[in-house]
Amino acid sequence: MKPIQVGLLGIGTVGSGTFNVLQRNQEEIRRRAGRGIAITMVADLDVERARAAVGPDVTVVNDARQVVANPEIDIVVELIGGYGIAKQLVLEAIEAGKHVVTANKALLAVHGTEIFAAAQRKGVMVAFEAAVAGGIPIIKSLREGLTANRIEWIAGIINGTTNFILSEMRDKGLDFDVVLKEAQRLGYAEADPTFDIEGVDAAHKITLMSAIAYGVPVQFDRAYVEGITKLGAADIRYAEQLGYRIKLLGITKRVAAGIELRVHPSLVPAKRLIANVEGAMNAVMVQGDAVGTTLYYGKGAGSEPTASAVVADLVDIARLHTADPEHRVPHLAFQPDEMSDVSV
Ligand code: HSE
Repeated sequence: MKPIQVGLLGIGTVGSGTFNVLQRNQEEIRRRAGRGIAITMVADLDVERARAAVGPDVTVVNDARQVVANPEIDIVVELIGGYGIAKQLVLEAIEAGKHVVTANKALLAVHGTEIFAAAQRKGVMVAFEAAVAGGIPIIKSLREGLTANRIEWIAGIINGTTNFILSEMRDKGLDFDVVLKEAQRLGYAEADPTFDIEGVDAAHKITLMSAIAYGVPVQFDRAYVEGITKLGAADIRYAEQLGYRIKLLGITKRVAAGIELRVHPSLVPAKRLIANVEGAMNAVMVQGDAVGTTLYYGKGAGSEPTASAVVADLVDIARLHTADPEHRVPHLAFQPDEMSDVSV
């Protein structure tokens, strides 16, 4: 069978990681997918950088629409980020009958309902393992491994930047502002870290997990969101003295009134495994009625950890591409046209 043809939109850190992982492990990936997976086209504003990353056998363009419009491309991988052009390109790819893989949690948390409904209408898949907790396969775990369970709650450290800052504040006894500047200098925090430090990035991610776990619409606008900017060294010290660590947790939970969806600094007993997740690592706890408590740990960002998730989605789609839409494992645990409204 001919390899499935992939077009990459954006070849920065995650895009080049995806290209490298696919190249390096191509034999194993071909066996597991049942066919080859080939990146045949890349769009990036920096054409020279893209050429250097993928070599002469891949077509490089600077206009992403050329990838989306190419009838040879089966899967579009969106790694541009943000809500603007990325949203248009994803919707155009779906309209063109292409499957989409994206790491864009902001886009899906805010516009997911529209995007998933469009994908359902066209009978294509939108896969987003890389959007939540980077290399940790938490989306597949919720959708497949835990599919027998009624999920009671999910709680996670799902933003590496803030976990790194909180760890440094605790280890060095420093205040938030000082550690943030140091994290930016070392490249751990973005030049504009607003989404990370204000809890927005974590809220995007918990919104997506909540939608999968409970079959509710993606309702980022109804989440309670509080970041770590008001924390000082004294808060961390007092928490320690009382036997707790402060962690920025994303939490979603079934309650009598509906579903809770929140991100805020939380006091976690110091003996808990999740309290000992340090630095830029991520960890997600899921409580299911059958399985009990489970814990998933790993790198939540970075080139190849995130590429690991992107490639896993490509393999999934390659396996399912030839199946009738009604025989595919759904990429959501709900049908967008059957979602009920909930109190969040
Ligand atoms: N800014 C994110 C983090 C990157 O710090 O976790 C991965 O989504």
